[in-house]
Amino acid sequence: MRKDKPSRTAYKVALNVVTLGAKPGMDRFLPPGTVQATEKLLVASGAAEARAVRWSRSQRMVSVYEAFDWMLPGQFEAFAHRKAFCERQVRDGIGTGATQVLVLGAGYDTMGWRLAPEFSGVNFFEIDHPATARLKAKGIDAMGQRDNLCLIVEDLGKRKLVDVLKTNESWDQSARTVIVAEGLVMYLPPDAVRDLFCQCAVVAGVGSRIAFSYIPTGADGRPDAGRWTGLMLWLQKVVGEPWTWSIRPEELGLFLEVTGWTIALEQEGTDRKHGVEFYAVATK
Ligand SMILES: C[S@@+](CC[C@H](N)C(=O)[O-])C[C@H]1O[C@@H](n2cnc3c(N)ncnc32)[C@H](O)[C@@H]1O
Repeated sequence: MRKDKPSRTAYKVALNVVTLGAKPGMDRFLPPGTVQATEKLLVASGAAEARAVRWSRSQRMVSVYEAFDWMLPGQFEAFAHRKAFCERQVRDGIGTGATQVLVLGAGYDTMGWRLAPEFSGVNFFEIDHPATARLKAKGIDAMGQRDNLCLIVEDLGKRKLVDVLKTNESWDQSARTVIVAEGLVMYLPPDAVRDLFCQCAVVAGVGSRIAFSYIPTGADGRPDAGRWTGLMLWLQKVVGEPWTWSIRPEELGLFLEVTGWTIALEQEGTDRKHGVEFYAVATK
């Protein structure tokens, strides 16, 4: 990704969420408060103008996204399902004793900010690249800080997760933790993905889980976005955030095992594709 500029894809995910809020019936899937908090964050951070947010909320924009579904079937709604999946994993994890939540490549996601007051005994951490994380921090400042939400500004391509968390006094390496990596691993080089999963296994205690989304590898060995894969890969490259990692779903279990995790195949939503992505959960 372009190191000096806020993430375009994080911006696009957030605006997509706002537009989903205008699509009838999506409130059945989107976690409560997600749309409103995302709108607030985009404007308060300066990531988007109020006009762009208003426009995203319109029925016209719903139609635009729906029209683009010819290219990536189901992708518009998939963001609602992805947000719901991640939040379900976090709630389940907390329900079974997790006391830490770590969101990697958090972008303009609002889960930590929304859940922190509800779970005051849980420490929430987010990490993102400086250009995006600084904007988000400005937005969170304006919306109201949470005592148990820590925003970490770091390029994980430059500094290892283990080192980043070692210097954070609130992080407890032995605590049961839920790690979320939503829409992240496809943007990292293959070695970095393997290394990141290994490090996640080191920084989290026994009973932890990691929930993430990934792009499956197609028959030709490239990330598979369906019929329009070539165009999609080109577009991602043009916006400066190319897809560099994918995996065949049937190979994921072994990949995770080598990095210290056990795939949890029984988790809801992990048995099918949502738009261009699969969702997965692994436990330690
Ligand atoms: C597609 S966005 C997803 C944002 C968020 N997870 C969501 O789904 O709403 C990918 C995010 O990963 C972050 N990211 C990519 N490479 C990173 C790196 N090396 N270190 C930290 N964050 C990174 C980007 O800044 C961006 O916010």
